[in-house]
Amino acid sequence: MRAKMGSFAAFSLLVLGLVFNIAVLCNGGKTSSYVRKMEKTVDMPLNSDVFGAPEGYNAPQQVHITQGDHEGKAVIVSWVTPDEPGSNTVIYWKENTEYKKKAEGKVYTYKFYNYNSGYIHHCTIKSLEFDTKYYYEVGAGHTMRKFWFVTPPAVGPDVPYTFGVIGDLGQSYDSNMTLTHYELNPQKGQSVLFVGDLSYADNYPNHDNVRWDTWGRFTERSAAYQPWIWAAGNHEMDFAPEIGEIKPFKPFTHRYHVPYRASNSTAPLWYSIKRASAYIIVLSSYSAYGKYTPQYTWLEQELPKVNRTETPWLIVLVHSPWYNSYNYHFMEGESMRVMFEQWFVQYKVDVVFSGHVHAYERSERVSNIAYNIVNGLCVPVKDQSAPVYIIIGDGGNIEGLATSMIDPQPAYSAYREASFGHATFSIKNRTHAYYSWHRNQDGYAVEADSMWFFNRYWNPVNESSESQ
Ligand SMILES: *[C@@H]1O[C@H](CO)[C@@H](O)[C@H](O)[C@H]1NC(C)=O
Ligand SMILES: *[C@@H]1O[C@H](CO)[C@@H](O)[C@H](O)[C@H]1NC(C)=O
Ligand SMILES: *[C@@H]1O[C@H](CO)[C@@H](O)[C@H](O)[C@H]1NC(C)=O
Ligand SMILES: *[C@@H]1O[C@H](CO)[C@@H](O)[C@H](O)[C@H]1NC(C)=O
Ligand SMILES: *[C@@H]1O[C@H](CO)[C@@H](O)[C@H](O)[C@H]1NC(C)=O
Ligand SMILES: [Fe+2]
Repeated sequence: MRAKMGSFAAFSLLVLGLVFNIAVLCNGGKTSSYVRKMEKTVDMPLNSDVFGAPEGYNAPQQVHITQGDHEGKAVIVSWVTPDEPGSNTVIYWKENTEYKKKAEGKVYTYKFYNYNSGYIHHCTIKSLEFDTKYYYEVGAGHTMRKFWFVTPPAVGPDVPYTFGVIGDLGQSYDSNMTLTHYELNPQKGQSVLFVGDLSYADNYPNHDNVRWDTWGRFTERSAAYQPWIWAAGNHEMDFAPEIGEIKPFKPFTHRYHVPYRASNSTAPLWYSIKRASAYIIVLSSYSAYGKYTPQYTWLEQELPKVNRTETPWLIVLVHSPWYNSYNYHFMEGESMRVMFEQWFVQYKVDVVFSGHVHAYERSERVSNIAYNIVNGLCVPVKDQSAPVYIIIGDGGNIEGLATSMIDPQPAYSAYREASFGHATFSIKNRTHAYYSWHRNQDGYAVEADSMWFFNRYWNPVNESSESQ
């Protein structure tokens, strides 16, 4: 009996010790106490106002733009005509000028099971002037529609520039709220970094590609006027062998062109651009990234090219997060982290934006690169050369919120909250950027988390990871 008690006491001590240890390891940041009113996330019906097609014969719809070269002097204009191919021409002119120019694009179609796409046009307008407002028209010969955009300032180290950050948007009522809040945000985002999972058409029978069209019409009100920088998510794969669709990324790559050749990439799923004071690298979680693969080789050659004197801010977009403390998609980004994290620390990436998990989370600056299988050093450590990892998969798609979190909050997690929303990353100069996350709180946007980013190359001092 006595001996039994003794071993019980020893056991209790051991348990206590373990608990204490866990407490030491898991002194995580803040888990927000805000709890959203729980309602089902519902897709907007096909007859919703946001999906309405423009009037007129063969009127261009789903108009969207993205950067068209490496520096920001070109724009890719994309649109769909429903009735016939029509014109591939974009007519464009500088604000306050009469002289109109023309650029010629190309038209594409694709089939997906029993769906036939409309006529998808892509046209790159080149040699634009920096920091200039342009008007443009598409639909020549039938129904013309007019839009505008502003080119970014010339690439340079102290150019202020504000990015919106949105992920996993889908087309629910919550998606509409997220987009509306982004549009109304006083930070005034000048282009959107989109971290993947666009339409969620693949949640419909046979991946009903009509839901790609509705998504294009829904997002036109922003994406026709400012570039959205695209990263692909798992919902872009549209891999459906049961209906004979085995070529991944077919609808996405037909509809959303990106300037991947300008960064010497061999596929539209990974590429880079410079925009104002930022260098943006887009990676693909769902393309091969093992050693010797095209994506691996490209990134290996890409990182040394980043000149922080020219573009101080190094931003990475990748759909599946490397640091995530939700019980959804936990560790799915692990194999890519193992391959690339060392480089991100070496090249001092400022911030990595991901989606996939339908919630919000911001990490501490941590790395987990010391482990070599035998040394046991497998716990992430604070590392001022490491990026901050942000999960912004909270756009509001039909799959709903990820609410279940790993408890206690791991030390790498600085702030987490299961709410829909969007973020802005506002570069002030080479040393400072103001980041904020805006929760969609039933009707209006609330700044729920924010942080001053200090540039890792020019200003590598400790930041406060506390919410402001
Ligand atoms: C979507 O949001 C816009 C802008 O707030 C609004 O005008 C529109 O009625 C909304 N549509 C739906 C279906 O919620
Ligand atoms: C792409 O490769 C060409 C030829 O090697 C080179 O001149 C160019 O600078 C490269 N572009 C980028 C963005 O790396
Ligand atoms: C980096 O950019 C700066 C500013 O544009 C330029 O002066 C410098 O030559 C570049 N460095 C390299 C290695 O290209
Ligand atoms: C910065 O933070 C690290 C740990 O995150 C700490 O070891 C270091 O002493 C801090 N440096 C300064 C200057 O506060
Ligand atoms: C950079 O921006 C920050 C924040 O606005 C400001 O405090 C700082 O003085 C600026 N630095 C320079 C050199 O202007
Ligand atoms: Fe995803």
